This record gives sequence, structure tokens and C-alpha cells, in this order.
Amino acid sequence: MTTFPLPEDHDTEAMHKAWARADLQRYLKRWEHTDLPSIPAAFHAFEYKACDIGCGFGKYLIRESSRHPDRGYLGIDKGSLRGGSMTRRFAAAGNRNLFGLHANAIPVIATMPETFLDTITIFYPNPWWPAKHRKKRWAYHPLLPKLTRILKPGGTLLLTSNETFYLAEMCYAIIHHPEIKAMECTYAGPIGETEGRTHFETKFIEEGIWCGEVVFQNQRPRT
Ligand SMILES: C[S@@+](CC[C@H](N)C(=O)[O-])C[C@H]1O[C@@H](n2cnc3c(N)ncnc32)[C@H](O)[C@@H]1O
Repeated sequence: MTTFPLPEDHDTEAMHKAWARADLQRYLKRWEHTDLPSIPAAFHAFEYKACDIGCGFGKYLIRESSRHPDRGYLGIDKGSLRGGSMTRRFAAAGNRNLFGLHANAIPVIATMPETFLDTITIFYPNPWWPAKHRKKRWAYHPLLPKLTRILKPGGTLLLTSNETFYLAEMCYAIIHHPEIKAMECTYAGPIGETEGRTHFETKFIEEGIWCGEVVFQNQRPRT
């Protein structure tokens, strides 16, 4: 398994600072007067639940929900073009196990109970290159510990990126964040797929751009 080089010292310092300052409840206040969509009741009814955060046009979930009709799939995207198009594509696909929310995923995920999901996927999030935007990257985000807590024991979190530094930061954060427990990195390296699971992945493959992924598994024991 490939591993990624450790982030630079100034980045790890910034991560530790961001984690020490993080206050999820305060962060969520920006949505306190917003009508948020709720997670569809029918999604709760599935034993196996998967959520794709920032799912874009929803290509991956259309494929997965067709392959596994007994599993529930929820895609969330806030983009005006991608989010709107995704909900229309999901309706057209007609899979009864496929659900889409055109919304910001942060406050929606924040309402999820612990051990709710079997898998979380995040394909090609914006890398927010300039250092002043670091805090928008997942490794620095106040929602990160919650993301790991909503996974069932044995559940997995998959993140892909065409930027090595982004994957390296996530590896560092999952292992070193003081509020994240019992998550193990089970894969870190180039993507295995050549077909393109999402629109961005397809585009990167066509253009010959390197893509990598990291997979983490919740090792907490089942109770
Ligand atoms: C670079 S695109 C990748 C889209 C898709 N995952 C793919 O691989 O084709 C990033 C997507 O994340 C969405 N996004 C970013 N932050 C989000 C958030 N907080 N909630 C929901 N969607 C978000 C954007 O709207 C955009 O569609």
C-alpha cells in the first residue's frame, strides 16, 4: 500500500490549531434560521446506508443503487448546477433506494445519529489550495470527528483527490485528531478504478491526471 508523505510542519501546526479552536455547535449557528431538508424517512428504513457528500451529478450513486437494490443511497450536493441536476437524474433513474438532497451537507450530516451509516464517500472535494482557505478542507473542518462517529463499527470513509497533499492531510488528521478514535487507514494510494466512478474522476482519467484515494475503517467494536 502506498502511503503519502507527512504534511509540512506548518500544515500540521495549522491543523492542530484548527482542531483546538473547533466548536461544531457554534459553526452550525449559521444555519439556525435556514429551513434544512430532512433525511428521507425511506432512507432510514434501509439496514445498509451509504452517503456520498458533494455527490455532484450523482453518477456513482446511480451505479451503486442499481447494483445493490437492497441498500439505501443518499447523495447530497449544494451546487446550483450539480445539486439541481442530481435530484432530476435520481428521479429519472427511478431507483427506490436512491435519495438526493440539494443542500449543504454540513448541517444535514450534523443531524445524523451515531453509528448511522455503513459508508461515507467524498469524491474530489475542492482542495482549497490557498493556505488562507485551509480551514475549508476536510482535515481541518469542525465536522470531521462527527463524520467518523456516524459510521457504524466496520463502516468506511473513502476520500478521493487528485492532490496528494489533500490525501496526506486527511491521513494525518484521522490518526492525530484528539477527538477521533479507533479509525484505521486500510488503503492509501492510487485509485483502483479505471472506469471513472464520478464525473470528476472520469474527466481526470481522460486527461491522464493522477488520482488517489484513502479509505478509513471504524474499528470500534460492535455493541
Ligand atoms: C469538485 S466537485 C466533485 C463532484 C463529484 N463528487 C465528482 O467527483 O464528480 C465538488 C462538489 O462538492 C459540492 N460541495 C462542496 N461543499 C459541499 C457541501 N458543504 N455540501 C454539499 N455539497 C458540497 C460542490 O457543489 C461540488 O458539486
